[in-house]
Amino acid sequence: MGKRKALIAGNWKMHNTVIEGCHLAADISRLCSDLTDRDVMVFPPATILSEVCHIVKDGPIVVGCQNVCWEDRGAFTGEISPVMVKDAGGRAALAGHSERRQIFGETDALINKRLKGGLFFGLQMILCIGETLAEREDGRTFAILEEQLRKGLDGVSAADMAQVVIAYEPVWAIGTGKTASKEQAQEAHAFIRGILEQIFEKNIAEQTRIVYGGSVKPTNVDELMAQADIDGALVGGAALDAKSFGRIINFK
Ligand code: PGA
Repeated sequence: MGKRKALIAGNWKMHNTVIEGCHLAADISRLCSDLTDRDVMVFPPATILSEVCHIVKDGPIVVGCQNVCWEDRGAFTGEISPVMVKDAGGRAALAGHSERRQIFGETDALINKRLKGGLFFGLQMILCIGETLAEREDGRTFAILEEQLRKGLDGVSAADMAQVVIAYEPVWAIGTGKTASKEQAQEAHAFIRGILEQIFEKNIAEQTRIVYGGSVKPTNVDELMAQADIDGALVGGAALDAKSFGRIINFK
């Protein structure tokens, strides 16, 4: 594990009704009550943000929204503002998840607006980046990561970076059961840290947490977390079950 405090985040995607989400949140909360050396976040669907926040309110879990608008209010049908996320009890948001990019056509420019909007209103933000299989096979992984990182972080200040986490999520590893090998993940994370040093400075690059996402499971979390530049995990499928998410949180 690197020098930074580990972060394990669960992205529930479009899963869980109120009852299901409350049970899951209560179970995870019980597993986390004594944790001090690692951070835990969950990202439920917006419809149950408030209920989940209520369930975990006395514990260490930070709750966030899976996407966020840059304005506080207004004519933005279908969007959720950072102020609304905070009003519901949320303190974080994702930006640029590959499903937003691939299925809903979100661009780096749009993602950058979301990221800056969330930061402006005081949310911790996780910027997700990652290459597709075709891009990896074309030898374009690093070019894509650099482009998504530079465009995504455009106009973000060094001071703001204290509230930013980068998630490296190779698209080909998300929900497919195919995890990047620990070497592939470490190589990408080290590259990302190098670009952060170019954009900001060494200290910022050293302090920024870079978490890995893409089929993280109880069986592979330990070896991923042992890599020098892997500071945590953004977990989809395995975060929907308290037992498996609990094992991931308690990585060794
Ligand atoms: P997965 O999803 O763990 O189900 O691959 C990760 C993510 O999309 O954040």
